[in-house]
Amino acid sequence: MIRRKFLKNTLYSTLSASSLVNLSNKNNSISKDVPRIISTWNHGVNANKVAWEKLNNGEGGLTAVEFGVRDSENDPNERSVGYGGLPDRDGKVTLDACIMDSNNDCGAVSFLQNIKNPISVARLVMETTPHIMLSGKGAYDFAIKNGFKSQILLTEQSKIDWENWLKKSDYKPVINIENHDTISMLLIDSDHNLFGACTTSGTAWKMHGRVGDSPIIGAGLFLDNEVGAAAATGLGEAVIRTAGSAMVVECMRNGMSPIDACKEVVQRISKLHKDRPEWEYLQVGFIAISKNGDYAGYSLKKGFNYALTDNENDSILVDAKYSV
Ligand code: GLY
Repeated sequence: MIRRKFLKNTLYSTLSASSLVNLSNKNNSISKDVPRIISTWNHGVNANKVAWEKLNNGEGGLTAVEFGVRDSENDPNERSVGYGGLPDRDGKVTLDACIMDSNNDCGAVSFLQNIKNPISVARLVMETTPHIMLSGKGAYDFAIKNGFKSQILLTEQSKIDWENWLKKSDYKPVINIENHDTISMLLIDSDHNLFGACTTSGTAWKMHGRVGDSPIIGAGLFLDNEVGAAAATGLGEAVIRTAGSAMVVECMRNGMSPIDACKEVVQRISKLHKDRPEWEYLQVGFIAISKNGDYAGYSLKKGFNYALTDNENDSILVDAKYSV
C-alpha cells in the first residue's frame, strides 16, 4: 500500500513538473484547490450538491458522480433526463448513459427503456461484465436481473407535450437554456483523480431507436487520468461526428487549457456544420477539467451554463463563454 501510494505521488509530482505546467488556464482564475465538480446546465446545481456530499462522506468519486446525476434522473421536472424525460416520436422514453473512472474503466447503456436510473445500470455494466455497453432489451434484461424495477417513465406532462408535438411533427431539436438536454458531470478528487458521468433521454421527438452522444465514450464523455476530463451537451450527432469529448482531452494533452480545448472543438464543429441544415438550431457545449484542477465550459451559441462546486463555490451557476 505504502509503495503504491509512493509511486502515485511520484507520478503526480512528475506530471506536475512537466506536462501539468502546460495545462494552466489563463482564462479562468486558477485555483489548485481540489476537489472540484462541474456539471452541465442548471440541473447541475442540485446534482453537484448530492455529489459533493457523497465525496465528503468518503464514498469516492465514482459514487459521487453516479448519485449526482441520479438526482436529475429522478426528477420528473427535468424533461431531458431519466424519469419525466421527453419521449421519442413514438411516445417512448429511451435513455442513454455512461460513466468512467480514473483507471479508464467505463460502462454504458443505450436505448434503455423503463428503467429510471440508467447511470447505475451503466456502472454495473462496467463493474460486473466483460463489456462496455449494453443496449435496448439486453440492457433492460440485465437491469431487471440485477434488481432494478421496471416502471413507466412517461409522465402525464410529457405525454401531453408529445401529443401536442404530434400535431405538427416538426423535428428541430433546439437545445439551450430553456430546453436543455444531458447532464454531464466531471469530478476531480483531492488526489487529482478524475471521474465522469453522463445521462440523458436524448433529443425530444427523435426517431425510435436513435442513440446520441451521451452513452458513447469519447463522444459524450472522456477522461484520461494523466491529462483531464471532458463531457458534452447539445446535438449528439454533431458531437459524435467530431469525437467531441476525446478531442477536448487530446487538445489538453497537447498543452491547451480547458477553455482553449473546448473552444477548439466547438470551432471544429462549427466549421463542419455551417452548411448543413441543422446549423439553424445547432447547439453544442463542452465542460472540461484538467489534471491540475483547472476547469472551463464553452459552447457554440449563447445560453449554455454549468454548475461549479468546490471548497470556494457552493454549487454556483456559471455562464459559459461562447462562439457565435
Ligand atoms: N446530447 C444528447 C443527445 O443528443 O442525445
